[in-house]
Amino acid sequence: MKAERVEIFEVGPRDGLQNEAREIAVEDKIALVDLLSEAGFRRIEVASFVSPRWVPQMAGSAGVLAGIKRAPGVRYAALTPNMRGYDDALMAKADEIAVFGSASEGFSKANINATVAESLERFRPLLAAARHIDLPVRGYVSCVTDCPFDGPTPPEKVAEVADALFAMGCYEISLGDTLGQATPASIARMLMAVRERVPVGRLAGHYHDTAGRALANIDASLSLGVRVFDAAVGGLGGCPYAPGSSGNVATEAVAAHLARLGYQTGLDMDRLARASALARELCGGSAALAGQAEG
Ligand code: HMG
Ligand code: MG
Repeated sequence: MKAERVEIFEVGPRDGLQNEAREIAVEDKIALVDLLSEAGFRRIEVASFVSPRWVPQMAGSAGVLAGIKRAPGVRYAALTPNMRGYDDALMAKADEIAVFGSASEGFSKANINATVAESLERFRPLLAAARHIDLPVRGYVSCVTDCPFDGPTPPEKVAEVADALFAMGCYEISLGDTLGQATPASIARMLMAVRERVPVGRLAGHYHDTAGRALANIDASLSLGVRVFDAAVGGLGGCPYAPGSSGNVATEAVAAHLARLGYQTGLDMDRLARASALARELCGGSAALAGQAEG
């Protein structure tokens, strides 16, 4: 019998690198994306059209999209917080874009300077414009179990924001454990609430690995039907507006874990290892070591 497929959405060049204090050259980012393009991903998040004053590391995003070798069948994604970001992403020929909101007010204000309600209103024209040109839009919900400012997040609030983004036209909702403090139990409570409002086939898990529980949280999500997970090559990253957050779960660790569970990811582990080595080099060895989260 053919193994069931689980997709890893690579977010390292965006979520991973955005938090790096040292300036990483556009050519180096391009080299990383080009290695990732050969590894078998269908979607790679490579850019972020946000204010360079808020996230200086992402300032070269248009150059990254202009310089990469676009592999057939791979969609290159960019974050877009507002219409300005949307226009820039279109100019740079992003294949898909993502709006990013929060289930908690504290993080929403700190990250995008808007209340949750204001952010949804800000996204609405962007989704309408994208619909006109059939541009896929992904929706992120941050702080799905815990917020660095507001404490535990009620699962109903996550379901409400996910539902609003889905109703607006986001094709997939990525649920972010921004702080990396979720547990399998808190993830399961959150997913049960969200599943009531958004089909589970349209959900993705986006788990940071601050407390070393991301793989356990992926297991809890798999058992509730989630089949897409975001991860960053080399375990790069964090979020500049979530104090205490650290890297995304490492792609290599997730891929190895899924393979052990009998799922197919379609990823080439040797090529992934090459990308991981470059990611670590670019970040001065600070990224989590590939594949070490599990034996
Ligand atoms: P603001 O200050 O409220 O916005 O920021 P504004 O409209 O008043 O504009 C202020 C300045 O930013 C102006 O420039 C604008 O032109 C400029 P000035 O006149 O002062 O020189 N500006 C822009 N520049 C470039 N691109 C744009 C843009 N928009 C305005 N798109 C804003 C609001 C949303 C812009 C700001 O808060 C921002 O850029 N925030 C981004 C924060 C961010 O990128 N965080 C990390 C990504 S989210 C994440 O990592 C979580 C995730 O991984 C999931 C998870 O883990 O939970 C997705
Ligand atoms: Mg993140």
